[in-house]
Amino acid sequence: MNIYLDNAATTPLDPEVFEAMKPFMLEDFGNPSSTHSHGRKVKAAIESARKKVAELLQCTPGEIIFTSGGTEADNAILTGAVHAYGIRNIISSPIEHHAVLHTLEHMQKENQIDIHMVNLDDRGHVDMAHLESLLAKNDRALISLMHANNEIGNLLDIQGVSELAEKHQAYFHSDTVQAVGHYRHNLQKTKVHGMTAAAHKFHGPKGVGFKFVRREKKILPFVYGGSQERNMRGGTENVYGIIGLAKALEIAYRDMDEHTRYIQRLKSGMIQKLRATIPGVTFHGDSENPEKSLYTVLNVSLPESEENNMLLFNLDLQGISASGGSACSSGATAGSHVLAALYPGSKRGAIRFSFSKYNTPEEIDYAVKKLAELIPVKTF
Ligand SMILES: Cc1ncc(COP(=O)(O)O)c(C=O)c1O
Repeated sequence: MNIYLDNAATTPLDPEVFEAMKPFMLEDFGNPSSTHSHGRKVKAAIESARKKVAELLQCTPGEIIFTSGGTEADNAILTGAVHAYGIRNIISSPIEHHAVLHTLEHMQKENQIDIHMVNLDDRGHVDMAHLESLLAKNDRALISLMHANNEIGNLLDIQGVSELAEKHQAYFHSDTVQAVGHYRHNLQKTKVHGMTAAAHKFHGPKGVGFKFVRREKKILPFVYGGSQERNMRGGTENVYGIIGLAKALEIAYRDMDEHTRYIQRLKSGMIQKLRATIPGVTFHGDSENPEKSLYTVLNVSLPESEENNMLLFNLDLQGISASGGSACSSGATAGSHVLAALYPGSKRGAIRFSFSKYNTPEEIDYAVKKLAELIPVKTF
């Protein structure tokens, strides 16, 4: 058995996406900035990819700027907004991705910015009353709160936060890297000002993503150079990446209802089976509430044991790829800042399983069986 249950780290490329990318790796190789026919053809393909993404998210093509992925997009929006609006106060949470937290730390040092962490409830959700009180005290702040948490799967009330941001004239950035391609965003309705995506989280290629920057809330460019991406990000475009991103998003939207149901069933099934086989198992975050938990992520909390340190390694030996938290810091059995913030002092084990349309119920059964075998039986 060789089972991949780490789809929050990255997803396999959809063959249909690869087929769409292929011509741009071979025959359609022109530089989109060239004005001759080779260049024009590729430029047109990029613009139609941008139009497609904008249609799906219900925004305008000019509001989509392609990047090298989620990290760059988060960096670009946070630094771009701080500089454009002279922001002095940022409201965020301790369970954001490092693409956000490390950028904020850097800006705190460089720009004399105060960072205010919003309270989280016992399931890891943002305390909206506390958020509102922080907004009331800090005029024209920047809010950075992620839509779907990559480690525990918690979902933010992104609509509610966007309304608070509007009321308090705050700039609202949301790291939507784990949510784009899994949920439909309607940017006419949800007035987030900046959001981000990475194609490899929804069966597209790695090394490409985008930032959405609302037209009325312009920010400064991130990469200076040529006039690509409407002067917002210099550098020759990752053409086949962009084509792949748009195709992957199109497929994700086309099949979303069916795949959401299918993957949620895999997750709920795993929750039930783990409960039935492993005494004392619980789940980090709010996994059992489908309304408030990303259906692709399940973070399992295991009773304290010396063996917990070796679980991921041993699962790997059994052919099961999972993760101990965020895999983005690679390699990583290093402690998770998300779990440390939510469960200080806890010595329970944590394994993140994350699912995609390519997983099967048989794989889930196998993973549960192997995990149960690896948990020491307690005799009292
Ligand atoms: C929530 C979140 N934000 C940002 C990123 C960074 O994306 P990328 O690795 O494409 O730069 C990730 C990657 O795991 C993520 O899960």
